[in-house]
Amino acid sequence: MLLKEGKIGNIKLKNRIIMLPTVTNLSNEGFVSEREVEYYKRRSKGVSLVIVGASYVNKLGKFFVNQIGIDDDDKIQGLRKLSEVIHQNGAQAAI
Ligand SMILES: Cc1cc2nc3c(=O)[nH]c(=O)nc-3n(C[C@H](O)[C@H](O)[C@H](O)COP(=O)(O)O)c2cc1C
Repeated sequence: MLLKEGKIGNIKLKNRIIMLPTVTNLSNEGFVSEREVEYYKRRSKGVSLVIVGASYVNKLGKFFVNQIGIDDDDKIQGLRKLSEVIHQNGAQAAI
């Protein structure tokens, strides 16, 4: 059952194994860091969906120094890189 394909809405999942969000504190003041990319590159192997750790949508909601930020366009480049490495392993990326 765990290895059977799945679906959440219109998102296809290659199996039923999902990485739940666990805060890493690996970003660089909100910007995705190389260490973070490396971490998710490893962790996304074998799972169908990676939900990255708690992220802030507004600086007022930031509660760790090195939490991922999705509050501004200047973060897009790093977030794109992060989703790319997750997708390379055949997993979907969620935040
Ligand atoms: C160290 C640690 C960090 C976590 N960080 C987050 C987080 O950033 N965002 C979030 O929504 N949940 C976070 N959680 C909650 C987990 O995603 C998960 O919901 C929780 O561990 C319960 O899992 P379980 O039902 O399999 O026991 C964290 C849990 C742990 C243990």
